[in-house]
Amino acid sequence: MFDVVIKNAKLFLEGKVQEAELAITDGRITKIAKDIGGDNILDAHGSLVLPGVIDVHVHFRDPGMTHKEDWYSGSCAAAAGGVTTVIDHPNTVPPTTTLKSFEVKLNAAKKSIVDFGINAGVVDGAELEALWKAGITAFGEIYMAESMGKMCVDDDALSNALKTIAQLDGIACIHAEDERIIKERTEKLMNKTDPSAYSSSRPNESEANAITKATESASTAECKLHICHISTKEGLRLLEKNVTCEVTPHHLFFTEKDWDRLGTLGKVNPPLRSEGDRQALWAGLNRIDMIASDHAPHALEEKEQDIWSAPPGVPGVETSLPLMLHAVKAGHISLQCLVERMAINPARVFGLNGKGDIKVGNDADLVFVDFKNVTPIKADDMHSKAGWTPFEGMDAIFPKMTMIRGGIVFDGEVVGEKGYGRFIPGEGATNLYINEGK
Ligand code: NCD
Ligand code: ZN
Repeated sequence: MFDVVIKNAKLFLEGKVQEAELAITDGRITKIAKDIGGDNILDAHGSLVLPGVIDVHVHFRDPGMTHKEDWYSGSCAAAAGGVTTVIDHPNTVPPTTTLKSFEVKLNAAKKSIVDFGINAGVVDGAELEALWKAGITAFGEIYMAESMGKMCVDDDALSNALKTIAQLDGIACIHAEDERIIKERTEKLMNKTDPSAYSSSRPNESEANAITKATESASTAECKLHICHISTKEGLRLLEKNVTCEVTPHHLFFTEKDWDRLGTLGKVNPPLRSEGDRQALWAGLNRIDMIASDHAPHALEEKEQDIWSAPPGVPGVETSLPLMLHAVKAGHISLQCLVERMAINPARVFGLNGKGDIKVGNDADLVFVDFKNVTPIKADDMHSKAGWTPFEGMDAIFPKMTMIRGGIVFDGEVVGEKGYGRFIPGEGATNLYINEGK
């Protein structure tokens, strides 16, 4: 009757951990009860079972920069980190700004072993309506300042785009930094060679100004707004009630003090901030909707340049859940806070139906965890092509097993078949691309 029944599990159900069995049929959760029984049993050996993580901010670099990452390597890293769904951002080569480039990305993503959404890029001339109908998840990140990929938009382009996105009833995801402030500061600091000058070149007020501007523009356009990788106490204070946001593990765990240890490996946008900002982010987790990795891998040789030439970004899709689980064990956040921010809220905000929670009818996207399993993060164990991690040596709790739609993709090693991952069409999708060939 059921394909498999998971027993001896502690399931995270309705906000708390409960001992129950869970049955799966055709990739979906079909029953949850104290005692289901059946022939095909999967013994969880007392593991905690959480909904699979949805990482709404990854840069898998495919097409165009596959020496940094590709859909297979990136998705293997995701699976090993308990991430069952990723949303890929548009600053690839070509950028995902036209229907044609969307098709190219969808084709590249056929290598994925985890389920995925694809975001559309917003630049002058981007085919926003066609992309929405093709099934993109959301618009952005929309770059209010240059980051990777030369996709920065000016104020007029932003407000025009937000009007179009509002008409489509989509969500605008904003990279909130102020290009003018950054340019001015960078010119003054360019002669500095100490990597920490990079934080000064992109100050807190740059994020604050950008959030204010984006909020005003979105409210005029009546457009739904999501702030990517929020990093400052000022930014947090400026968040209007109806605006959602995400925070990254690197901004939760690192500060400017880490420049000494990380050197140019610590270069990321927005940059590493003060201890006061870091504490404000932890204290503000109740207001923050999601934890997303902003997985932005670069090759080590690329990062080992002077601070102004090195590309911005750090890998993180494989380490975000493990670091946050360790934070749960250390008493810094509750398990409920983690699950809401890493699975439930991402699914709700981005309309990923059937994902994000353990309940009957949803996809059986599950992560099996043992809190006793504390291990230090090692670059050698990671699956990203980056080959390095800023979190080297930090304690983490990696999943024992990751399951997507009832299929095991990671059980200590990657076992998911290349191409197992499915495209999750967004809310504007016509049926053109839905699960092509599957
Ligand atoms: C990201 C990248 O490398 O794609 N880099 C980064 O520093 N965060 C782009 C981005 O998210 O801004
Ligand atoms: Zn960004």
